[in-house]
Amino acid sequence: MYYIGIDLGTSAVKLLLMEGNGKIVNIVSKEYPLFFPQPGWSEQKPEDWWESVKEGLKELTEGFDKTQVAGISFGGQMHGLVILDKDDRVIRPAILWNDGRTQEETDYLNNVIGKEKLSKYTANIAFTGFTAPKILWVKNKEPENFARIEKIMLPKDYIAYQLTGSFCTDVSDASGMLLFDVENKCWSTEMLEICGVKASQMAKVFESYEVVGTLKADIAAELGLPEAVKVAAGAGDNAAAAVGTGTVGNAMCNISLGTSGTIFISSERFGVDKHNALHSFAHADGKFHLMGCMLSAASCNKWWMEEILQTTDFSAQQAAITDEKLGKNHVYFLPYLMGERSPHNDANARGTFIGLTMDSTRADMYQAVLEGVAFAIRDSFEVAKSLGIEIKASKICGGGAKSPLWRKIIANVLNIRLDIIESEEGPGYGGAMLAAVACGEYASVEEAAAKLVKVVDSVDPTAELAARYEERYQKFGQIYPTVKDLFPKIS
Ligand code: XUL
Repeated sequence: MYYIGIDLGTSAVKLLLMEGNGKIVNIVSKEYPLFFPQPGWSEQKPEDWWESVKEGLKELTEGFDKTQVAGISFGGQMHGLVILDKDDRVIRPAILWNDGRTQEETDYLNNVIGKEKLSKYTANIAFTGFTAPKILWVKNKEPENFARIEKIMLPKDYIAYQLTGSFCTDVSDASGMLLFDVENKCWSTEMLEICGVKASQMAKVFESYEVVGTLKADIAAELGLPEAVKVAAGAGDNAAAAVGTGTVGNAMCNISLGTSGTIFISSERFGVDKHNALHSFAHADGKFHLMGCMLSAASCNKWWMEEILQTTDFSAQQAAITDEKLGKNHVYFLPYLMGERSPHNDANARGTFIGLTMDSTRADMYQAVLEGVAFAIRDSFEVAKSLGIEIKASKICGGGAKSPLWRKIIANVLNIRLDIIESEEGPGYGGAMLAAVACGEYASVEEAAAKLVKVVDSVDPTAELAARYEERYQKFGQIYPTVKDLFPKIS
């Protein structure tokens, strides 16, 4: 049998065809536009996602026995607000996870409703990228659109709805809406009321590995797939990536270097960081996780290369960052190109180079970009450590994880071993695994992870380099508090 994983990302959708034994037999990627209508805003058209998914599914299964496709599931970009009217039409472009327009609504939730209440209702506080502040923003700034809302959805759930007609979501993605009581895995009636939302506007919630429906007849015909194909709820991309890298069960860690950067810690039990610097969400394995999310990770690398250096030859530019330069850079970079989420929660934060001198080179600046992302991941890692969580090793996935140089920097900045998995396709592979579990190929997510995920390489820190990076990290840590008050004045 075949299982399809759909990784609905920010720059593209990646689709992956997996055999029941975990072998990936085909991968297809389709890009779609990302719109920044105003500084700090970030939008996409759900219709673009859907067209790309359909094209991608056709291409992915071309030349394979389509009758053998048993299940489809997802890893989806989280937090995005998709709103449909009574005729199932998209009311406005989706407002994405890295959109910073909701500072006013976020402040209202955190300061007027209060962080304590939010944390009690949902296990989390408000961040500009979360869904609830976006709903309030539409209510305040686009009341005519707010009045038309019939259904509120997350990005991957829009695709599940198109495929099956089932108005559904899963526990991991629902956790990032700030409307979900994570501990009890149900919508929070208090939060729905605070946001002016009716329960009927919210989707039915499933565990990530549960079947939400089968393909609609017309869609099955269009795609050439059997109507009996089961669609499983899937997960937010980070939870799906955690499944795809075997980060399930207790105190396992995964670092994802995609457009965003995340550090994800799985947990058997529900728990909340008392400062709410880390998100406390449900996991796709039926349990829970803590997560720190930085808004710009591999996107800093892409920005530096493509926008600034105007090249796509990443390896050539990284070759200039030789081993003896590591841990000795005098140039620092704050990677806050879209503001920052964890742990600063500051939509006004901005990217910043500091420490430049006449002899600073292009390679020093590039190195600072890669190191800045690693230091920012360390910020969330430190919060996890302060909670008594001991992390000795982590998996690593996402586009940025392909760079041996970046992996080495991160292993030494965090001073932990990084394990590299056979398949780099974190969310897509996790999505296919969830589909396989939903179809009964594996008894549980844990079993699928134990049988399918293989570590093929590791990067160990060295005492000397880790010590040099420790010193640099202490300096990096002083930059943001020093310049922070300047950001609102210049943004
Ligand atoms: C997680 C987050 C991002 C997006 C990226 O909280 O906002 O990782 O899910 O797709």
